Amino acid sequence: MQAGATTQGLSDKPADPSPTPSIKTAQRIGVPREIFPEEKRVATVPEVVEKLIKLGFSVAVESGAGDAANCSDDTYRAAGATVVDSAAALWSGSDIVFKVRPPTADEVALMRAGQILIGFVWPAQNPDLMQQLAAKEVTVLAIDALPRMLSRAQKMDALTSQAGVAGYRAVIEAANAFGRFFNGQITAAGKVPPAKVFIAGAGVAGLAAIGTAAGLGAIVRANDTRAEVADQVVSLGGEFVKVDFEEEGSGGGGYAKVMSEGFQQAQREMYAKQAREVDIIITTALIPGKPAPKLITAEMVRSMKPGSVIVDMAAEQGGNCELTEPGQAVVKHGVTIVGYTDLVSRLAKQSSTLYASNLFRLAEELCKTKDGVVNVNMEDDAIRGLTVIKEGEVTWPAPAPKLPPAPAAKPAAAAPAAKKAHGHGGGDAEPMAGSKLAIMFGVAAALFWLIGSSAPPAFLSHFTVFVLACFVGYMVVWNVKPALHTPLMSVTNAISSIIAIGALVQVSPWANAADRPNDLISWVAAAAIVLTAINMFGGFAVTQRMLAMFRK
Ligand code: NAI
Repeated sequence: MQAGATTQGLSDKPADPSPTPSIKTAQRIGVPREIFPEEKRVATVPEVVEKLIKLGFSVAVESGAGDAANCSDDTYRAAGATVVDSAAALWSGSDIVFKVRPPTADEVALMRAGQILIGFVWPAQNPDLMQQLAAKEVTVLAIDALPRMLSRAQKMDALTSQAGVAGYRAVIEAANAFGRFFNGQITAAGKVPPAKVFIAGAGVAGLAAIGTAAGLGAIVRANDTRAEVADQVVSLGGEFVKVDFEEEGSGGGGYAKVMSEGFQQAQREMYAKQAREVDIIITTALIPGKPAPKLITAEMVRSMKPGSVIVDMAAEQGGNCELTEPGQAVVKHGVTIVGYTDLVSRLAKQSSTLYASNLFRLAEELCKTKDGVVNVNMEDDAIRGLTVIKEGEVTWPAPAPKLPPAPAAKPAAAAPAAKKAHGHGGGDAEPMAGSKLAIMFGVAAALFWLIGSSAPPAFLSHFTVFVLACFVGYMVVWNVKPALHTPLMSVTNAISSIIAIGALVQVSPWANAADRPNDLISWVAAAAIVLTAINMFGGFAVTQRMLAMFRK
């Protein structure tokens, strides 16, 4: 419909180096091929192209942009995108450019005033690039500058989605370099012990690595200076190993702080012990803006069993291991040390799909009118945080976003006193609930007495069974976790099909001839049996399937 028509209309748009397009026309999103060496990701995938078109945009993709991520030109075409032959035509014909890596100087040269660039920019690390982009009078939204503390921003959080992929891939790289199974096995040839994996740093990548390694059946241990992540480690199947030194490790905003020398000494001792015991170490420790802490010394590497593996995810920031060589997998003292810096790109289809979804969510925020026209609203905290250059003016760093005020801590001692003071005012919920309950019990008791004293005996026996059934049913359901309520209902439903006995009696050929019902009743009973059978077998089948989801 309208979106499709818009796409068709714009698909013939010539490479136009003129300034800002008319505000009324739907804008074109351009996706160039990433030119950074070994970068396999692409900023959008065909499934997301369709969604962007529904938002009113038209989409152009440079030929071959998705090849390394298993997205061919044809799949983009089928999704409604235009495939453009050259990078120059792509950049000049786009109003908005979606990218993964920061643009190179050559790419910046292809930009024109009024364009919007969305992708990783790292403004703190790339001051020269920021100057070049500002000189071009473009608007730049750096996805890495997203204020992650806003819960609304989570769907756009590309740092998280990409680090999650990297954590997963780190475990796969470790498994590839490791000469044994991850899970323990008992085979005819003998018993194989499970691999022991130690994860240093339980941030986004670390937690993904814990979940993946535990899923493969390894024994997983993890450590982080922020003690608050211990519960998350355990919930993902790991064991949190504490450093024997009391010190608060949180530096605020979900990031760590540099620890005292005393803590670091105690941590080194614990890490040295883990190095001797485990088969695989995956390091992800980092404080943003600081060089990676050296947690695994050469001595610790020497102490590891031959055939052990270290995957150093912080290789790009100098590495958590003293012997890491960034970008390489090397064997030192019989230990394979993997320092790949392109872990995300090694899972290009997955990371591109997640990244494309993050950018689509951002496009939704930028185009609430769904007419294919972006509004960079600087009043919006999330958009403000991302916008590092607005029409040539550097707007980075953004002021801290306004977070909702933290709920006021309850004054523990004052609360009971306040309750007492208001106890008779009728405004307190608790005394009201208590009195309500008493009234309810009183009314129920009076009702039972009335029924017991006046109802006929035949009714009373049925009524007693009914009340007991309600009581037993309530007691059974009450103790079942809410997540299991649906399978409980379906199995109860299946059991209730016992009423099929009534219909069976009606169609029974052995029934006394005099008592045999007429044909109509027999047919109705037969139909009842069919329906009840569906209920019974369907109920049990659904229960089995649902319970299977809870089993590991
Ligand atoms: P994050 O900030 O979410 O996690 C880092 C964690 O390290 C935090 O939980 C922090 O508390 C912890 N930490 C800091 N200092 C520590 C210390 N001395 N001891 C123990 N824990 C400490 O970061 P994220 O996103 O999980 O990334 C982790 C690392 O992975 C970073 O170095 C990042 O650059 C790298 N990375 C590497 C990729 C690759 O291809 N090699 C791809 C993606 C991320």
